[in-house]
Amino acid sequence: MTALSDTERGEAAIAALVAELGTRTVLAGADRPARNESDWSTLGPQAPLAVVRPATTEAVAAAMRICAAHGVPVVPQGGLTGLCGGARPIPGAVALSLERMTGIEAIDPASATMTVRAGTPLQVVQQAADEAGFLVPLDLGARGSCAIGGNASTNAGGNRVIRYGMTRDMILGLEVVLPDGGTVTALNTMIKNNAGYDLKHLFIGSEGTLGIITRLVLRLFPKPACTFAALCALPDYDSVVGLLAAARRGLGPMLSAFEVMWPDYWGTIEGMPGVRVPLRSGHAAYCLIEAQGTDETYDAPRFEAWLERQAEAGLLADAVLSRSVADVKAFWGVRDACSEFPQVLGPHEPFDIGLPVAAMDDYVRACKAALAERLPGAFALFYGHIGDGNLHIVAGLKGAQPQPKDVIQEVVYGLVRAFGGTVSAEHGIGLTKKPWLGHVRSEAEIALMQRLKAALDPDGVLNPGKVV
Ligand code: LAC
Ligand code: ZN
Repeated sequence: MTALSDTERGEAAIAALVAELGTRTVLAGADRPARNESDWSTLGPQAPLAVVRPATTEAVAAAMRICAAHGVPVVPQGGLTGLCGGARPIPGAVALSLERMTGIEAIDPASATMTVRAGTPLQVVQQAADEAGFLVPLDLGARGSCAIGGNASTNAGGNRVIRYGMTRDMILGLEVVLPDGGTVTALNTMIKNNAGYDLKHLFIGSEGTLGIITRLVLRLFPKPACTFAALCALPDYDSVVGLLAAARRGLGPMLSAFEVMWPDYWGTIEGMPGVRVPLRSGHAAYCLIEAQGTDETYDAPRFEAWLERQAEAGLLADAVLSRSVADVKAFWGVRDACSEFPQVLGPHEPFDIGLPVAAMDDYVRACKAALAERLPGAFALFYGHIGDGNLHIVAGLKGAQPQPKDVIQEVVYGLVRAFGGTVSAEHGIGLTKKPWLGHVRSEAEIALMQRLKAALDPDGVLNPGKVV
């Protein structure tokens, strides 16, 4: 018997998928939607062999089983908003999109949990919690497009990590389909459950390389009664570190966000239409602080008094305090303006790095200096979730096409290693950062990751070539 060619195997797999799941679920040939060819990374499109859109866990398992039997790789897809290529198809692979597996299955007010299907957009999950009188605290710019299953598989961070943790900290249970097509339903609803290995953590943050998340149990939190924010200008970075410590101490559990923007960021958003910029440019750093309270009568004066004390202590060069929910939203508009950078700045490289908080500004200076030396005329904007030690950078050479990606990455990641940071704080590794994993993980760590991958997916059929 002669071995089948890749093309023959692919055709046989598509025929078997169609026979089992039908042409509504399996889109092949000219029926393949273009949107499933790429994510929000800068990798560009790659057409999958077929797009499979199962509506049930059983159908996900059947699709995985058929692809595994034919030796055809599967790339799981959620909302396709990832920036590292984790959900981008690879040549010859089937894209398995959870986009039809949506909906809230249950809300249990007594245990404060919600069971959801993996393809449900984050914003729909947030709204359902809100209507039930609860909060799903996970929040990020792509909330309208990203899917909760993708948030889990990438362990998304976002804007409120300082108070509620990463996605990992909000998940109690999972259902996953394994690379061999088996299903593990572990929809635990208890906060405490030390009965053996906590298997969900294998799948959270492993970017669809160990299993396909199909359903999740989320923790629900009490809905805050009031939210306050302040936008602050600071005289130097030491004041940023001082303000963070003062916010942790003085606001305690009310502190729900601590975002910092460097001066170049401020200069860029000042000219953008629709963005209200309430503080002058020219300061050393800008900070957005948010606090969530339980009683406006007590918490509003508490927040204002805290801010006044920081001004008296000399930590603030200028500040504006929110007086309404609309002000809080407008302040976040300053921070969310970065989602328009692709239009405003043109082609560039986005980064998501982690660094010790105290070293952040030294890193920024070193990075700017190194970029100026290696790429005269390059721009670089710095901002991020500094309370979590998470810095975002967008850097590029205006007008250059293609962008000098390799040089920019060498500068950014070389300094990350020198400063003891990480090449991914909240966006994952996917494909784009895979060459840099060895910069921040030891050989022993990577070898163990590879052993886990080989144990769960010995034939390399689930999202192969991603992460490790
Ligand atoms: C942000 C995204 C890029 O924080 O993570 O804006
Ligand atoms: Zn971020």
